[in-house]
Amino acid sequence: MIVRIITLFPEFFDSPLRSGLLGKAIDKGIVSVEVINLRDYANTKFRRCDDSPYGGGSGMVLMAEPLFRCLEEKKGDAFTLLTTPAGVPFDQELVKKLHEKKELCIICGHYEGVDERVSERYVDSEVSIGDYVLSGGEYAALVMLDAVARYVPEFMSNSESLDEESFEDGLLEYPHYTRPAEIEGMKVPDVLLSGNHADIKAWRHEKRIEKTKRIRPDLYKRFCEQSRGE
Ligand code: 6GU
Repeated sequence: MIVRIITLFPEFFDSPLRSGLLGKAIDKGIVSVEVINLRDYANTKFRRCDDSPYGGGSGMVLMAEPLFRCLEEKKGDAFTLLTTPAGVPFDQELVKKLHEKKELCIICGHYEGVDERVSERYVDSEVSIGDYVLSGGEYAALVMLDAVARYVPEFMSNSESLDEESFEDGLLEYPHYTRPAEIEGMKVPDVLLSGNHADIKAWRHEKRIEKTKRIRPDLYKRFCEQSRGE
């Protein structure tokens, strides 16, 4: 998978792209990430990329021209996302759709927003990572990159599984424990030490339902509706 990230702050990505599983995947060539400095496509003297909004109002708007030039050169066949708090929710369902694309391009939104004509001409989907406002789209771009890259075959080592984790079948994950079996009087549930795989499976399923009901009533409601075949 090839991911191009268009940003005013390329240095933001230096350490995340070198760290953890994502860093390893990039080293191995499983995922290829190109970070593009939008300022290289500004043709004014001070390489300006923002301007005040037509119609008035506070803040600045990311200009269309540098993005037009950049996307003409870099978009290719890539499925193109624009990060914005006004976008569709970025959830696991969208992740699964995006990981099928061979090439992704992520435009990091900034300031009050991006000139609408960029979306009209080049953007396939405007995406938000949650109902809060970030100071820049770079945070969201990293979240999206990581979530999608995990689905590329070979990204995960064999010991990590995609199908037993949170959101698969609409439930949160069950609780985990490791050694020691007891710490300051707090014991690991007996069933996990029993070696009875059927019991463990049943316990974990029960815990997933219990946890989802408590922490994410919205997901729990949907899970119940789906179980009833609604
Ligand atoms: Cl994608 N961008 C910004 N600036 N804020 C956000 C967001 C994106 N998603 C949630 N908040």
